[in-house]
Amino acid sequence: MTSKIPVIIDCDPGQDDALMLFLALNAPELDVRGLVAVAGNVSMEKIKRNLAMLVDIVDRCDVPVFAGCNRPMVRELVTAEHVHGETGINGIELFEPNTQLQDRHGVDFIIAESRTAQDNEITIVATGPLTNIAMALVKAPEIADKIKQIVIMGGACFEGGNITPSAEFNIYVDPHACDVVLQCGRPIILFGLDVTHKVMTTQNRVEAIQAIGNPVSQIAASMLDFFGKHDSEKYSSGGAPLHDPCTVAWLLKPDLFKFKSCHVAVETMSELTMGHTAVDFWRVTGKKPNVEWACDIDADAFFQLLNERLSLY
Ligand code: BDR
Ligand code: CA
Repeated sequence: MTSKIPVIIDCDPGQDDALMLFLALNAPELDVRGLVAVAGNVSMEKIKRNLAMLVDIVDRCDVPVFAGCNRPMVRELVTAEHVHGETGINGIELFEPNTQLQDRHGVDFIIAESRTAQDNEITIVATGPLTNIAMALVKAPEIADKIKQIVIMGGACFEGGNITPSAEFNIYVDPHACDVVLQCGRPIILFGLDVTHKVMTTQNRVEAIQAIGNPVSQIAASMLDFFGKHDSEKYSSGGAPLHDPCTVAWLLKPDLFKFKSCHVAVETMSELTMGHTAVDFWRVTGKKPNVEWACDIDADAFFQLLNERLSLY
């Protein structure tokens, strides 16, 4: 057995973040060192509650949970209740979680956990705005050496934007944080809308998750039922793109995806194109690639993996 991948997960649940967590928190391949909340889909108060609830649902209260930044580095917070519902995880009933958040700030946890690691050891998975990751890199730049890779859901190229005509939500919410991360010099694996829009929660796929029949899969299916509604109408698609779990699916089964090495920069000045990721897909700038840009996925095999792992709960 190869050794487990040490992972820090930073997220803003969100139904698709929830599915990412379900995939990560029973994966024998991963050593999840901590979960950090970031404001994004909804306010930090709701994100903290949602994250604690999700940890309760999968019975992993041994994993420490931290609250990170409650707003982006420079801009005002923009949220996405129009997609995820008022709670951020509409589709399931709220309850008072037993999981308690740690006192330490999430950014300080990322720094401390990285500092004690070997060089090139820590994998960061980020499925919300990149605020906490950027703040950690700004506060303690020396931790960059400890980071093996940053696996991110964010950005868009050929697919266009989902919050403005050219920007994807996570990057739009904190483009300045994205800029810091893109320039940190560590390997970045970026799952943008070009690939996540190929992973649709069609009715058949949601029914198959429901049919697994354990409590976690039923909660997953009810969240996806709600999540599919807004996006089905928006994209005339019969489901929603299951964005965030692509990150963890890649750690578990890298062969599911195809990538192209590209230089990616982010717009931080223009209100019109704020948060647009300029993906140099055809290498016209001559700039050295800083990102592995996910461009394709075997979506059926992805759902097979998801269902296999959900059935283990
Ligand atoms: C991203 O934005 C959020 O609404 C989702 O959780 C996902 O991380 C997709 O653009
Ligand atoms: Ca998210």
